Amino acid sequence: MIVVISHPGDLHATRVVDRLRSRGREVFVLDIADFPDTATLSVDFGEPATPRATVTHGAYGVVDVSAATAVWWRRPQFVRLEAIADNDARGFAHGEWHEALHGVYALLDCPWMNPPQADERASHKALQLRVASELGMRVPDTLMTSDPGAALAFIERHGIGGTIHKIFAATHQVWRETRLVRVEDVALLESVRLAPVIFQERIPAVADVRVTVVGDDVFPMAIDTRHTGYDVDFRVNMERAHTSALALPEDVVDFLHRLMAELGIVYGAADFRLTPEGEYVFLEINPAGEFLFVEQGAGHPITDAVAGWLAEPLGPVL
Ligand SMILES: Nc1ncnc2c1ncn2[C@@H]1O[C@H](COP(=O)(O)OP(=O)(O)O)[C@@H](O)[C@H]1O
Ligand SMILES: [Mg+2]
Repeated sequence: MIVVISHPGDLHATRVVDRLRSRGREVFVLDIADFPDTATLSVDFGEPATPRATVTHGAYGVVDVSAATAVWWRRPQFVRLEAIADNDARGFAHGEWHEALHGVYALLDCPWMNPPQADERASHKALQLRVASELGMRVPDTLMTSDPGAALAFIERHGIGGTIHKIFAATHQVWRETRLVRVEDVALLESVRLAPVIFQERIPAVADVRVTVVGDDVFPMAIDTRHTGYDVDFRVNMERAHTSALALPEDVVDFLHRLMAELGIVYGAADFRLTPEGEYVFLEINPAGEFLFVEQGAGHPITDAVAGWLAEPLGPVL
């Protein structure tokens, strides 16, 4: 049985699950938000050396998750504890659920796409930039800071027009595109005290390159935004951008495999800038990044690749 940890609104999961079921594979979609109202969790140590973890779910019945042959850590949700009014009690209950769930995850010693701890650690841009640089890949000159003075010095070094700012991570409610630092932003720099900001040298590019990696398979797509009216962030005018499959240089493919091995992940969606000189500059890798727009924009069979990996996993054991 393949366990997919996500929720019904996740189109990526739905596509992959449909593909797996159409191939006759048994799949259980574990939505953590089903706890506590529509699902219960148990770990039975009747046979202490082989504890049995089960989820009893309103729609699925009793599911023996210990029998998982692969797990897709895709979009884990939060246990819904709004019914507990007291803040301290709710915080405590969240902690107990967290321990119980992560205990179960640790028992599922089958291949994971990706192992939760590796996924969490790999998601940090600071670590990604360091590892990429250690592997010999160019990364933009970067300052992550909540210090207005340090921010000003960085902007003076790269200049207005030569510096971008961007966020660490979006929330459900707030997303911000990458922006060029403008003259008027300099007066607002005090606000970085409230939330640290990532400043980078602006990397001029003929294309953004998004590379989805699934196990050994690499699916690169070029995104040309030069004629869309906003070429600072490809996501702003994605529907008007020109997208195409491209062949990656051997050394970039090799870099990606080594980066993922170093981070302990088997799935990742990496962003690069391809400069007019033909150099690849690494921006980031998303351990649970979206791929359907790449499937559509470049014709790459990524749904098949993810389903194939989950059906015949080659990945690391948790
Ligand atoms: N240093 C940079 N120079 C030029 N463009 C950048 C730079 N950093 C980010 N961008 C643009 O913004 C997009 C989003 O930045 P990225 O580093 O991928 O962070 P995230 O996707 O987490 O917001 C990139 O795909 C690219 O189009
Ligand atoms: Mg990105």
